[in-house]
Amino acid sequence: MSIKIQPEAIVALRGFEMPERLGFGTVMAPVMFRARYQDGRWSDGELIPYGPLALDPAAKVLHYAQSCFEGLKAYRNGNNGVGLFRPERNAARMAHSARRLCMPPVPEGLFMDAVRSVASHCANLIPGSSGESLYLRPFLMGTQPDLSVTASRAYEFYVIASPSEAYHAGNMRLWVEREDSRAAVGGTGDAKVGGNYAASLQSIAGLKERGYDQSLWLNPGNRHTIDELSGMNFFAVMDGALHTPALNGSILEGVTRDSMLTLARDQGIEVHEREIDIDDLLALVASGTCSEAFACGTAAIVSPISELGDGDRRYRLSQAPGPVADKLRRALLDIQEGRAEDRFGWMQMVPAASF
Ligand code: COI
Repeated sequence: MSIKIQPEAIVALRGFEMPERLGFGTVMAPVMFRARYQDGRWSDGELIPYGPLALDPAAKVLHYAQSCFEGLKAYRNGNNGVGLFRPERNAARMAHSARRLCMPPVPEGLFMDAVRSVASHCANLIPGSSGESLYLRPFLMGTQPDLSVTASRAYEFYVIASPSEAYHAGNMRLWVEREDSRAAVGGTGDAKVGGNYAASLQSIAGLKERGYDQSLWLNPGNRHTIDELSGMNFFAVMDGALHTPALNGSILEGVTRDSMLTLARDQGIEVHEREIDIDDLLALVASGTCSEAFACGTAAIVSPISELGDGDRRYRLSQAPGPVADKLRRALLDIQEGRAEDRFGWMQMVPAASF
């Protein structure tokens, strides 16, 4: 599949000035990728200037939320090179999310061409400090203007990019959410769709005032085993072993989650993927058996958890940041940022585009 580079995209890249402060997801690269799907086939992709989208007000995505997204990162790697971290996992997960919402999966080749072309043209925008990167956000949406509740017949696929710092820096205090659910049994919990995140906002909204940073979601079926955070997977260290909720259909299969498990096993740390009952966990934190906990995700990397709040009780983790989170975070960043050998074949290299 060929990609057309619009001359205006090159003009936009040449004129771009990087702001001093980045934050997460607020500074946008001046170009984006677009491909369209109509009558059962995908168009060629094109790199175009970043800018507002023209959408019919009756587009399916605006009413019935037919859309899904991904998040992955590109790192500066040596002389002019760009390293993408496990992009094929994002391509596969996006195809899974698309199928769940009855959308045509973006073919893996198109997905890879899209992220490679954005990363290579934005090579100069990749920040160089450790923990910073170019965050890529592919998304797919149904654009057919038609208010009937049926799958769209037209779609658009975009990749936008944002030079970013980590999503969450420092220790996090989590609120155990016992009322709301972010996803339903048989719903879209294991698909990366906006509705899961929208459903989490009410819980998160009042947290800061109460001294918390994020909600910890329980399984919507049993309401007592841990699922995940909004946008991050959960890990706890008990007697030196690493425990994380097993994939159960309502948890997103995180690429960083999988990488943490691989790195932990490689370092000889005992790993358990299992159901973790919230009351058991809180008792183990109170007794000191659970010494550390952390969350991880593409955007957040690895974020230590210092406290769990449940009703009017607060449970403090004795180690935050703890040694296991710290060791795994460093091992991951060493591979992503090119300081350690890529023994698991996780990095895909892209040459920087010259223009
Ligand atoms: C990511 O880690 O890429 C995510 O999608 C989380 C994001 C919603 C902040």
